[in-house]
Amino acid sequence: MKIIFASLFLSLSLFAFQKDIFISKFIDYNSTNLRNLALSFGLKSVPKNYKALKKLLDTKENPLTKEKIRLGRRLFFETNLSKDNSIACSSCHMLTEGGDDNKAAAVGFKGRINPHHLNTPTVFNAALQKSEFWDGRVKNVEEQAGGPLQSSFEMDMTPELVVKRLKSVEYYADQFKKVFKNDKKPLSFKNIRYAIGAYEKTLLTRGNFDRFLDGNNSAINKKAKMGLSIFLDVGCIRCHNGMALGGEMLTRFPLKQKVAEISNGVYQPVFSSARFPFKNRGNFLGKDKMQIFKVSILRNILKTAPYFHNGAIKSLKKAIDIMAKYELGVTLNKVQTDEIYEFFKSLNGELVDYKIDN
Ligand code: HEC
Ligand code: HEC
Repeated sequence: MKIIFASLFLSLSLFAFQKDIFISKFIDYNSTNLRNLALSFGLKSVPKNYKALKKLLDTKENPLTKEKIRLGRRLFFETNLSKDNSIACSSCHMLTEGGDDNKAAAVGFKGRINPHHLNTPTVFNAALQKSEFWDGRVKNVEEQAGGPLQSSFEMDMTPELVVKRLKSVEYYADQFKKVFKNDKKPLSFKNIRYAIGAYEKTLLTRGNFDRFLDGNNSAINKKAKMGLSIFLDVGCIRCHNGMALGGEMLTRFPLKQKVAEISNGVYQPVFSSARFPFKNRGNFLGKDKMQIFKVSILRNILKTAPYFHNGAIKSLKKAIDIMAKYELGVTLNKVQTDEIYEFFKSLNGELVDYKIDN
């Protein structure tokens, strides 16, 4: 028994050792095989049209209609939803800036900075996630939308005040009646959240990576393909999976750190939990203060700097290296980091036109 364990440990550690150096050995240069591998890991392309979008994201609780989506769009840009009428959702989640604000920490009502120094995540593809916020504390975009409206450092409103404000605007009084015609109280805080959530479901992006997954072998270049291979092989995919390449689960960060490579001439892959590889400004510690965070979405990652929950890291290449080291215990060489970066470029996308105006 002991021997089995010992040899198992030895082969595991050898495997880990080889992984660091010989990653390229596992790389598959054939585009079709690579696509099939990516699909088998659960990566998926974003729906191209409204019908496919509905199939993916429609719920009984909040059925999608184009009228509701248009109402939600108007609300997303509505500054009257904030106490001093100055801030809309779109102030921090700018659609022209990758769905975020390019700041390390969010700035809200009266210039108040997020007390935990939290970075604004992108709203693009956020609706694909299984939970929302850095610590995954709510389950969907409908629930999420109630947060910023009431938060004192974002829009600083109360549900009653939001409803009162909108009731006094004729457009909203009419539209809510039309869109939520079966409700006793069409203009309610819940329906405000539902309309905004419906709109957010249309903020999905498609890019070259989607075209590659859909069958176009030349949609991404060879370097990006190598990056994708490494991403799959080295284990980024274990956490950054699903259509958004993230948002499916929560994990600890930092998870692991290799503390000793060679001791007494024997390779020792020893992992231990570690401190953040940056000053954790704002001291946010995630779910239950256990350093448990929602796995970030990687779509449009080139456009959403700075990185991590407190926006501590400006360089994407540095963020990639940190992840490899602290979540996987692997040190990437420069070429490998560059290849993953090239793969990330292919995750840049354009908002899909779901034709909600007709
Ligand atoms: C002051 C800037 C600011 C405003 C205004 C704002 N947000 Fe955010 N948003 C943030 C920050 C910061 C977070 C992360 C907060 C956290 O995790 O606790 C966030 C998180 C989110 C998320 C979750 C994304 C994810 O990946 O977890 C969504 C969705 C979202 N906001 C949508 C909205 C909507 C809809 C509105 C308007 C009702 C809005 N935001 C208003 C800054 C802002
Ligand atoms: C064990 C799970 C896990 C693995 C494996 C993992 N990540 Fe992450 N990743 C996370 C979590 C959790 C976060 C958010 C951490 C935070 O901000 O506190 C994150 C954040 C990121 C970010 C920053 C996102 C942003 O918007 O700020 C990048 C870039 C990233 N990961 C790339 C990678 C790459 C590349 C790999 C493989 C080398 C990888 N990750 C492996 C869990 C993981």
